[in-house]
Amino acid sequence: MNKIKKLINERDINRRVKEISETLYDEYKDEEVVFICTLKGAVFFACDLLKKYKGDVRIEFLRVSSYSGKDSTGKIELNLSISKENIENKNVIILEDIVDTGTTLKFLKEYIGDMKPKSLIIVSLLDKKERRKVDIEADIVGFEIEDLFVVGYGLDYDQKYRNLPYIGVIE
Ligand code: IMP
Ligand code: MG
Repeated sequence: MNKIKKLINERDINRRVKEISETLYDEYKDEEVVFICTLKGAVFFACDLLKKYKGDVRIEFLRVSSYSGKDSTGKIELNLSISKENIENKNVIILEDIVDTGTTLKFLKEYIGDMKPKSLIIVSLLDKKERRKVDIEADIVGFEIEDLFVVGYGLDYDQKYRNLPYIGVIE
């Protein structure tokens, strides 16, 4: 394994994830929410956030990919889909790992939006604003970061490093 320089430590991640979970609960309280975890990157974020969420939830998974190594191919592939009946007239929250160029987010918003949810918001753990190519923003962001390729806490470099409990940069 290469040396990884820590960028966001476990304690800060935990604290922010708890904060987001509470913000969402304050917003939705008595209503059921469908959380969509985008695989594979958002899996740790989704697990931690949902364990801290106090309301009623359903959980769905979507799998999209656009990256090969450190470069986005710009082409989105949907490898796992969701059926409309699980989304229509429901409060939906998409959980993403990171917004980079914004291509994936735009695709997700349209794909789920077309299924006519009652409400739809996007929560992303990380945001690399500088890299945006598509005019789109997440509704809630955990941490805004510089233009660095990060790994850990679900995020990979060629499928490696997802299991790191913190977010870091390969040295
Ligand atoms: P976008 O479509 O360019 O916004 O890319 C979004 C997807 O690319 C994210 O959901 C990640 O899976 C991946 N990605 C973007 N930046 C990074 C990074 O720094 N580390 C690991 N994966 C990344
Ligand atoms: Mg992703």
